[in-house]
Amino acid sequence: MISDRESPHGQWSTSLVFVLAAAGSAVGLGNIWKFPYIAGEYGGGAFVLVYLFCIVMIGIPIMVAEITLGRRGRQSPVNSLRTLAQDEGRSQAWTIIGWMGLLTGFLILSFYSVVGGWSLAYVLYAALGAFSEADASDTAALFEALQESPWTLLAWHTLFMAIVFAIVARGVRRGLERALDFLMPLLFLLLIILVGYGLVSGNMAAAVSFMFRPDVSMLTGEAILVAMGHAFFTLSLGMGAIMVYGAYLPKRSSIGKTTLSIAGIDTLVAMLAGLAIFSIVFSLDISPAEGPGLLFVALPTAFGNMPGGTFFGFVFFALVSVAAVTSGISILEPVVAYAVEKSGWTRPVVAALVSLVIWTIGIGALLSFNLWEGFAPLGFLADVPRLWFLEPLTGLNIFDLLSWTTGQLLLPLGGILIALFAGWKLSQPSLREELPMSEDLFTAWLVAVRVVAPIAVLIVLLNGLGILRF
Ligand code: PFF
Ligand code: NA
Repeated sequence: MISDRESPHGQWSTSLVFVLAAAGSAVGLGNIWKFPYIAGEYGGGAFVLVYLFCIVMIGIPIMVAEITLGRRGRQSPVNSLRTLAQDEGRSQAWTIIGWMGLLTGFLILSFYSVVGGWSLAYVLYAALGAFSEADASDTAALFEALQESPWTLLAWHTLFMAIVFAIVARGVRRGLERALDFLMPLLFLLLIILVGYGLVSGNMAAAVSFMFRPDVSMLTGEAILVAMGHAFFTLSLGMGAIMVYGAYLPKRSSIGKTTLSIAGIDTLVAMLAGLAIFSIVFSLDISPAEGPGLLFVALPTAFGNMPGGTFFGFVFFALVSVAAVTSGISILEPVVAYAVEKSGWTRPVVAALVSLVIWTIGIGALLSFNLWEGFAPLGFLADVPRLWFLEPLTGLNIFDLLSWTTGQLLLPLGGILIALFAGWKLSQPSLREELPMSEDLFTAWLVAVRVVAPIAVLIVLLNGLGILRF
């Protein structure tokens, strides 16, 4: 059964454009903001190794599965799943993967946009010279002041959502292709400059030993779950973002090779960001467990004290913002693609409506840093004995709840289902047509998505949630 469906939303002009777009989705706040701060909170080394292990053993095979489903389905995830289930004579229940992905997209983008707003704010701060000669307590105070002002946060969150909306409204290809090919390399260059700065003026030895010397005593079930969840988050896996980009992938492109490039770029950026940030953290009076403010406290302190720091700071936060926007686009795209297919309304109208809903949820996320800091929406569940396994959620504010339920629950669950559907429900001829790799590689991939990845993710989930202790 040869599949020659075409995507109604257009196609990438080459494999390279797809790699850039998918890398644009993958590389984002997850690498530069989230990875360093959670690695810091969970004690470094052991956490980082588990994370890397999950990228290779779980992330890469599932990314191949997700792109395969996308390219074969050629539509938004919901409709791709529906079509594939039909083609292969499988239950329509598998479209749940697409539906879950839509929900996950709403939830992720609403807090992602708030943090994207922080990075936009820091572009302005840098331009105004706000870091100049600052020490760690000055930059901590600057971050604190931003967090304490709901209106300022709202303004930046609004600007971030507006930018993402504007690009998605124009259509991903037209909106994205040109911008990406020079901005991604530039981000790379800036990170390398920062690592160079860390090498000369920071404490790189301490950074390397913190990130790569494993202390197994730090490995709780929760840490493993967070590391695995982050492997999904950072690779944009488990919710259909990479699937929808795969839908626009030319037929002749190699899914295996593109996956390796995307995962490689993403991992490299995370490691560079970690080294840059921790080498500064360990040369100053900053705790690696500083939390979500880590990036925004550590790097401005460095910029404030390096030659040309105002310029570098400006360019760096501009690039972080661009990386965040390109990820934001990929979170919004599956939702918009589906709504366009379903409603027949125009892209701009659909994108506007969806963005408005996400923007509204985002307000709850940004209030979690000030007015609603102590407000735990699921607090009432603490008294329900039969829901004891939801206990970790009962103390979280809206921001943490959005981040937690998506990263530690919905993305891994989506990943399991994607792996199982691709591995067990697509026929071998269909799979081979999409994945014309060597027989050995194909078999290894099949074992990974059929058995290894689903079981590993399930164990980590159950263990991390405390439902079963291994
Ligand atoms: N991978 C992005 C990052 O690391 O910042 C975040 C992300 C994008 C998550 C797209 C999920 C997604 F579907
Ligand atoms: Na990432």
